[in-house]
Amino acid sequence: MKSPIKKIAVLTSGGDAPGMNAAIRAVVRATNFYKLNCLGIYQGYTGLINGEFELLNARSVKNILQRGGTFLKSSRSKEFRTPKGRKAAYANLINQQVDALVTIGGDGTFTGAQIFSNEFDFPVMGVPGTIDNDLYGTDFTLGFDSATNVVIDCVDKIRDTAESHNRLFFVEVMGRDTGFIALRSGLASGAIDVILPEENKPISELINALETSLGHQKTNKIVMVAEGNPLGNTHEIAQAIRQHFPQFDAKVTILGHLQRGGAPSCLDRVLASQLGVAAVEGLLAGKNKVMVGIQKNEIVFTPLAKAISQKSVLNPNLLRVSKILAT
Ligand code: F6P
Repeated sequence: MKSPIKKIAVLTSGGDAPGMNAAIRAVVRATNFYKLNCLGIYQGYTGLINGEFELLNARSVKNILQRGGTFLKSSRSKEFRTPKGRKAAYANLINQQVDALVTIGGDGTFTGAQIFSNEFDFPVMGVPGTIDNDLYGTDFTLGFDSATNVVIDCVDKIRDTAESHNRLFFVEVMGRDTGFIALRSGLASGAIDVILPEENKPISELINALETSLGHQKTNKIVMVAEGNPLGNTHEIAQAIRQHFPQFDAKVTILGHLQRGGAPSCLDRVLASQLGVAAVEGLLAGKNKVMVGIQKNEIVFTPLAKAISQKSVLNPNLLRVSKILAT
């Protein structure tokens, strides 16, 4: 490929996600394949501003495909939100003779990348890495599949104790603004109800679902709660239900950051490998200010502006199926 790009920098930013290491590896190995240089940036945008760099070659990324987290580390940089911070970042990239930047992260990461690219006319490519799966322009983000696998593994265990004590469990999962993790893992673990940020349903619906379950003699009950749901804090929801159903021994489990850890699933490793290579090939083909994603098994590029501003929507069929099966 004929391209003015000779050196590509890569960083991970925002909440880490399983598959980020696999994506870094794919970017580094693809640059190696196309005879380019690759600069790793530590600590996301913070390291870009502070000059925490290391040249990476194919061997620098050995034995990381299967590891969770990100060996380049991550941050949520406040400084990069300021013109001063971005100016320092640009000066560092020029100093290192970097021609393009690959940023692996979520919407906050891409918002920063977009502003930076516009300000300095610098080529950037986004790779979607967040367990939340909340980016427009890709069916899956890196880490989502692994996180949902962690959730269902935990719920399977919770169900053993729930069944032994005839208990109701509220399981809170991540998802500040979206219910992708809650819906998918709720369906995969047989939850009786799923409380999602997108639905805005009244507590009476949850009460109805629980009443139905009573009629059906369900001995253990799992309610999956997305952290950003409009009904409120999971402990408060559980308390409201205890008041309505004093006979229920309702417990709350908050899975928290457990969901971000562990080895990436096969799906995430394959996705990361595909997206990392496509990110480098996209830059060489002249693509800029875009996010590389996968839709219907095809690699697609979506303008960063669109990936950030448009809402990714829950699959209505999953919602429908989950309601049919919860009875
Ligand atoms: O963006 C991914 C995410 O895991 C969200 O689901 C969650 O609300 C947030 O990160 C937690 O971020 P932090 O680790 O910075 O507290």
